[in-house]
Amino acid sequence: MNKVVSVPAVFRKTADTFAAGAKTLAQRYLVSTEVFRQEQEQIFSTQWLLAGHQSQIADAGDYFLVSIPPSSDCGRTKESLIITRDKSGAIHGFYNVCRHRGTRLKEDACGHASVIQCPYHAWTYGLDGRLIGAPHMDEVRGFEKADYSLRAVNLALWEGFIFINLDEDAMPLAEWFAPLNGKFSHWNMSILRPAKRIEYDVRANWKLMFENYSECYHCPGVHPMLAKVSPYDSAENDLSEGPFLGGFMKINKGAGLTMSGKACALPVGGIKREDGEEAEDDGLVFYYSIFPNMLLSLHPEYVMVHQLWPKSPERTLIVCDWFFHPAAFAHKDFKPEDAIEFWDMTNKQDWHVCELSQHGIASRAYEPGPYSSRESIPAAWDRYYLSMMD
Ligand code: FES
Ligand SMILES: [Fe+2]
Repeated sequence: MNKVVSVPAVFRKTADTFAAGAKTLAQRYLVSTEVFRQEQEQIFSTQWLLAGHQSQIADAGDYFLVSIPPSSDCGRTKESLIITRDKSGAIHGFYNVCRHRGTRLKEDACGHASVIQCPYHAWTYGLDGRLIGAPHMDEVRGFEKADYSLRAVNLALWEGFIFINLDEDAMPLAEWFAPLNGKFSHWNMSILRPAKRIEYDVRANWKLMFENYSECYHCPGVHPMLAKVSPYDSAENDLSEGPFLGGFMKINKGAGLTMSGKACALPVGGIKREDGEEAEDDGLVFYYSIFPNMLLSLHPEYVMVHQLWPKSPERTLIVCDWFFHPAAFAHKDFKPEDAIEFWDMTNKQDWHVCELSQHGIASRAYEPGPYSSRESIPAAWDRYYLSMMD
């Protein structure tokens, strides 16, 4: 028996937007190099992209790189960005391009440094991007260091997550996320700490993973363990149109989404009911896709986040992080691997069926198939995607 869980008003089920007749995407959207290029231009160069969490550069001097698209067998990396934390604690994002002769400044995926020094002629930049050293350039008349700071990329934080946007004139991130204001505040996401990162190289189009994440129609067959603790038909959607989509599912009484089937850490936060009291949120798991590269899974005791980075029409880098409450790490019953192993298994089950789909979609026999009534969210995701590709 599932316990009765009171769901706060911000998570109330929305009207079912399922439209009979909705079909899966046409083949070209899932295999074409031309469409891939168009996506890179119209989506990945204009939208806010999840790049990481502020806890991943906790100390001044910490940095990591973001490549868009990620380097792959089939092409060079187009843009490389350096995300830093400076001495004042501020987070910055810069193009990984020296202002002297354009050289890539950093090659390692992450690290710690007191300055950013070009490996070519040793121009040196502060963690805030200012040029602070340029050998022999004082001999050049009219040269001013202040004119040659690293080119900044549009960067902003949402709930502790770092987002970047290659479009300098993009809508401010706060405005973009305004429809979700306060919705996730009770998970304390800005203070959570990462316990583990796993990267997956999936041989499937990035959109297949969004569609897969957005329904549990496949759960009984693909995820027998998941389906045992979280009934696949308990899904309710509370965001059913637009760039933010998803809802919640029940977790059986006393169960957790872990290998042991029990909670593996202290709760990450609490959910307030309409009357202001703490609700029992340990009976629900919330799943949201945030267009175009974030999957946000909110469990009672951990938050799992996927970043999706298309590498080619048929290949995607997926970066999965597990976050816990800082206090959980010191607790004797802290067993993050219990959740990590569970989702690593579940992730791989999903990637496998996505790869099988990719194979079939590439066939001359493929034609768009009808979505079921349990696939209203994948259909809505496709609608939003197509509106971006107009
Ligand atoms: S290219 Fe960077 S210092 Fe010359
Ligand atoms: Fe799945």
